[in-house]
Amino acid sequence: MPIRIAPPMTTSPSRPRILTGDTPTGTLHLGHWVGSVKRRVELQSSHECYFLIANIHAFTTRARQADDIRRDSIEIVRDYLAMGIDPAQSAIFLQSEVPAIAELTFLFAMLLPFNRVMRNPTLSEEIKVKGLGEQYSFGFPLYAVGQTADILAFRAAGVPVGEDQVPHLEMTREVARRFNQIFCGVSEHAEDADHEKLGGVFPVPKADVGAVGRLIGIDGVNKMSKSLGNAIFIADSAKEIHKKVGKIFTGRQSPSEPGNIENALFQYVDAFITDPVRVAELKDRYSRGDNIGDGHVKVEVAEAINTLLEPMRERRKQYEGNDGAIIEILRDGTSRANALAEETLAKAKTAAKLGYFPRRLALG
Ligand code: TRP
Repeated sequence: MPIRIAPPMTTSPSRPRILTGDTPTGTLHLGHWVGSVKRRVELQSSHECYFLIANIHAFTTRARQADDIRRDSIEIVRDYLAMGIDPAQSAIFLQSEVPAIAELTFLFAMLLPFNRVMRNPTLSEEIKVKGLGEQYSFGFPLYAVGQTADILAFRAAGVPVGEDQVPHLEMTREVARRFNQIFCGVSEHAEDADHEKLGGVFPVPKADVGAVGRLIGIDGVNKMSKSLGNAIFIADSAKEIHKKVGKIFTGRQSPSEPGNIENALFQYVDAFITDPVRVAELKDRYSRGDNIGDGHVKVEVAEAINTLLEPMRERRKQYEGNDGAIIEILRDGTSRANALAEETLAKAKTAAKLGYFPRRLALG
């Protein structure tokens, strides 16, 4: 597919730029919503937003499932749109179609000690959780370097993510600082916030972790995750929501037992019941064991979740069975992403003395 180049979206220099993304691993769930997507929807009117589908990263562990990766990439966009990301405001784009990201990944890999990459706790955790053992591909640790390029290619100031991504952000900040120090003469003592002002190509970006960085699954134990079978999906029906919320494990025996409001169920109360007065009331009665059963709280939680999901179900319908419309949205978003990423790449190459002559790739 040719990539069309459109002008970057910057409408005013006062609109800070953010970038974030997801590896397409299946349809999105409430953990994605509270951990990151909700924040994106809030930010999109006041920020210049880039949302990346990390489809190349999906190959780190699923190279033999290219068909699935393609399907999941489309599906995730459908979920974004359902959740309220507006493609007229925000660029939704494919990592695989932005060549500047791949080029910057190679360059940034030179700035990171190998052992530093391997010490990234998110990678170690994934090796453990996914049972990768010693068998992971070279590309697996490389994806963490790639993620620094995803972010820096857009010179994003902020990156809304879940808590588990914070180590990747830390690495990104290191790459930005090092690049600016080595190639742009920025002092080692410079404050992060001053790097661009002092001539650095890259801002040192900040992680913006959602209020509930990590939503527990309906098993009441593990982080919500598709592979653990403890997830509530954005596309679940109202009935399924009631069924799944009913399963949230608390271990409490009776409505008169003083309950622990730190439990999994109350994480959901906090995350989804929007009336603070009602939340306070529920917590008060629950903690005192004032004749309030888990079953009752669960019904209120399920209703709150359904209130949240109902407009999403409606929006989803527009794109159901319409992959063509999704591809068009990706094509447009990717062309906007390329305009900016090519500009960043040119600046980075000039700084690294790689700017031999102006290059114009015919992207589209
Ligand atoms: N690693 C992220 C995840 O699995 C996805 C991702 C890729 C990302 N590139 C990014 C997130 C850049 C934020 C910024 O969810």
